[in-house]
Amino acid sequence: MRHVSAKALEATDGVRDYLAAQEKKSLLRFLTCGSVDDGKSTLIGRLLSDTRQIFEDQLAALERDSKKHGTTGDDIDFALLVDGLEAEREQGITIDVAYRFFATPKRKFIVADTPGHEQYTRNMATGASTADLAVVLVDARQGILRQTRRHSIIASLLGIRHIVLAVNKIDLVDFDQAVFDGIVADYAAFSHELGFQTVVPIPLSARYGDNVSRRSEAMPWYDGPTLVEHLETVPVDEAALELPFRFPVQYVNRPNLDFRGFAGTVASGAVSKGDAVVVAKSGTPARVKRIVAQDGDLELAVAGQAVTILLDDEVEVSRGNMLVAPDARPQVADQFTANLVWFSEQPLLPGRSYILRTETDEASATVTELKYRVNVNDFAHEAAKSLALNEVGVCNISTRLPIVFDPFAENRTTGAFILIDRMTNATVGAGMIVHSLRRADNIHWQSLDVGKRARADMKGQRPAVFWFTGLSGSGKSTIANLLEKKFHATGRHTYILDGDNVRHGLNRDLGFTDADRVENIRRVAEVAKLMADAGLIVIVSFISPFRAERRVARELMPEGEFIEVFVDTPFEECARRDPKGLYARALKGEIKNFTGVDSPYQPPENPEVHLKTLGRSPEEMVEALDQWLLQRDLAQDQYESGAGI
Ligand code: ADX
Repeated sequence: MRHVSAKALEATDGVRDYLAAQEKKSLLRFLTCGSVDDGKSTLIGRLLSDTRQIFEDQLAALERDSKKHGTTGDDIDFALLVDGLEAEREQGITIDVAYRFFATPKRKFIVADTPGHEQYTRNMATGASTADLAVVLVDARQGILRQTRRHSIIASLLGIRHIVLAVNKIDLVDFDQAVFDGIVADYAAFSHELGFQTVVPIPLSARYGDNVSRRSEAMPWYDGPTLVEHLETVPVDEAALELPFRFPVQYVNRPNLDFRGFAGTVASGAVSKGDAVVVAKSGTPARVKRIVAQDGDLELAVAGQAVTILLDDEVEVSRGNMLVAPDARPQVADQFTANLVWFSEQPLLPGRSYILRTETDEASATVTELKYRVNVNDFAHEAAKSLALNEVGVCNISTRLPIVFDPFAENRTTGAFILIDRMTNATVGAGMIVHSLRRADNIHWQSLDVGKRARADMKGQRPAVFWFTGLSGSGKSTIANLLEKKFHATGRHTYILDGDNVRHGLNRDLGFTDADRVENIRRVAEVAKLMADAGLIVIVSFISPFRAERRVARELMPEGEFIEVFVDTPFEECARRDPKGLYARALKGEIKNFTGVDSPYQPPENPEVHLKTLGRSPEEMVEALDQWLLQRDLAQDQYESGAGI
């Protein structure tokens, strides 16, 4: 619809005025949702062609009028009518969502056309994140389906306040009022809990155009608006302007020493030259010295505008931080509760580390607790250990560094985030923050006088974590045991954390599902960190099959302290040795989720030490480890104690 080819028209004064007026129209963003066969594409196609017709008629009329005045003009490109919309094209997590642009004489529209296949939830969440309204399509013959409910719940979670219940294919039920009324009543019974501001039901036929832009003669019993009339008049949320000032900093613009500006888009509210602002994360106050836009300096910048802000003082603001109104500050926290919509085939695993991305900030994050899953049929809160594709839940999230946010209910821009898988970089979920967890405010680091260094020095050693990973029966425990004996003999202070042993105590509540293994490794990594902090040399011997969790463990320790040792024994060899008889049972199907059989093992990509065990003895493996340590300590002779490990 970007370039509507239209018959050439003479541009008269009247036409020009008319076109100029179009530029200033308000904008409504909406999306359509429904089941695959409910007629979404037909409806969008109908809207595009009907609205073009409206323009053609109107321009032709104007032209007839103004002909009398005898002005001449050029051809007109209908694209002018939707000008400016192009710039609105979404960025960020746009995946399969196509945005269509159209306009009527009263308003401009962006409709997110979200394809209706398996990944629908993800696409819908993408399309809905900025939408003001959702058109929920229902097939008159089918009534309210599971999908209708699911999409309505997601729309409500994503902050959409206006719903059109479009009862489509009404022609196929003989334009029957009773059918329509039945569907409207069903939907009302279900949706009243969702907190929509308006729900407007419209009986229509996208195929034949009844009640889309043209009032249908076949339904004299319906006296509500047509779809287009309603879309033209539903109040657009101007709320972003009324909200407190929020300016997430996208990057620091410093072309030379005299200029240091913070570039970004005003997320909400407005700011004027001379206004007092505060840097959200540090609380540092500052004053706005200049507001620079593409065409020069501005006195005022409002929600939606991309500008560069200069402050009167040299204050520290980096990407991801926010400039905000001093009297209405956002929250800064590293723990909060959020609604989460899950998009990925890979289930959400509490304890796993994801990348959390807000408008401009990014932090490592884990779901510390999945409080419940929401049943999309009856809103029941169901106990769950993970969320599968298209599921919705409420959880507590903890980030490694504090982020700045507002509750989503107060601000849809600063209250939303996405979760990204660290391995695949795919967007796996969308979140809406409910509130920060007060407990995060009340727990502080206790400062202690005897530190890690002092503890390690007293033992005459340097702490380290040897992280052994490999299949069950690969030889981890045997090699770990020999290594500890060797350390012990030379007076080193050590401790072995062994999977089988720890699972008898600290982790006795955990089994072998993916979720439990993630938690197993999270706990043991934290324990290893504490032990290293106590000055010990820690040897961890766990299958630890997932890269993501081994990476989390690595990131807990200072650079160089984490030594990943891949005990690389082929599956066939482990199954042949079968020291505990587990492989035989797993291969017969008697043990579920057995690593290498029906649960994956992801080998390390860059382990510090790679031990290929086939045909070599455990003693040779320890020797190889020793050699590696020697080489490393030679390379690091800057380590002042000279003691190496
Ligand atoms: S991990 O995957 O969560 O790191 P961990 O190292 O703690 O596993 O425990 C592995 C040990 O548990 C194995 O060596 C084996 O003795 C035992 N075990 C019992 N069931 C399984 C299973 N389904 N998969 C793997 N190991 C199992």
